[in-house]
Amino acid sequence: MSTILITGASGGLAQEMVKLLPDAQLILLGRDKEKLVQLYGNHPQAELIEIDITDAQALEELVAELYQRYGKIDVLINNAGYGIFEDFDKISNQDIHQMFEVNTFALMNLSRLVASRMKEMRKGHIINIVSMAGLIATAKSSLYSATKFATIGFSNALRLELMPYGVYVTTVNPGPIRTGFFDQADPDGTYLKSVDRFLLEPDAVAQKIVKTIGKNKREFNLPILLNLAHKFYTLFPKLADKLAGETFNYK
Ligand SMILES: NC(=O)c1ccc[n+]([C@@H]2O[C@H](COP(=O)([O-])OP(=O)(O)OC[C@H]3O[C@@H](n4cnc5c(N)ncnc54)[C@H](OP(=O)(O)O)[C@@H]3O)[C@@H](O)[C@H]2O)c1
Repeated sequence: MSTILITGASGGLAQEMVKLLPDAQLILLGRDKEKLVQLYGNHPQAELIEIDITDAQALEELVAELYQRYGKIDVLINNAGYGIFEDFDKISNQDIHQMFEVNTFALMNLSRLVASRMKEMRKGHIINIVSMAGLIATAKSSLYSATKFATIGFSNALRLELMPYGVYVTTVNPGPIRTGFFDQADPDGTYLKSVDRFLLEPDAVAQKIVKTIGKNKREFNLPILLNLAHKFYTLFPKLADKLAGETFNYK
């Protein structure tokens, strides 16, 4: 039976992934045990763990304990993350540090701890849930984009380092998904309203993620339209900036 560890397990996307993994031994990490129990209390093969993933010592102890108990982690899905869509001068220094702690540093630290074991076992798959915001930067997402661009850079290098050991690293870069993410990112709902017609459904995104488990897939970018926008952004950055700053300035 595969052992799959998922962070941010109480989130909207994680809930859909869990539904699609009935036969796996799941290790579900979240900040609030009660929330995890409410969601997954009846799941026959899910260990529910309350942890602050930004606490490096707690994370290190947990990983050591999990390897003692399970002997392996086949798949790590780094899913925890949040955004704040706001002008950069309205973001605090604390916000900057906190978001990097969750979206980037915790992901890097957990990947580091698990990857070293996967390397020894010459087997494993790390799936990093990043974002289109890690490929295309737009106004009011400077901090969020910075955390996600960093995560993609890290993942791209890690993939190369783990390649000789048969360990896969996949980055998943979705556009906006209909989850509770926007309660914090966009509390007044303006952005959500303007992108409503492009919203991805979390079950569809989860299906794609679960399908890639065990496959040597570099990345996937959703939806197709935003993937094309990303290619355009890379090829014609000046024109893309003009369009992103004017016509497609949704935030
Ligand atoms: N929704 C979107 O539009 C969208 C688009 C592209 C990428 N993403 C990415 O997809 C991933 C999943 O997001 P989602 O859409 O499922 O959103 P969500 O429903 O808000 O779930 C995100 C989960 O991340 C964890 N989290 C949030 N803030 C945290 C903090 N300060 N410290 C520790 N953990 C925290 C929480 O899990 P616990 O409460 O269990 O700790 C939360 O449930 C995130 O990495 C997000 O950046 C989302």
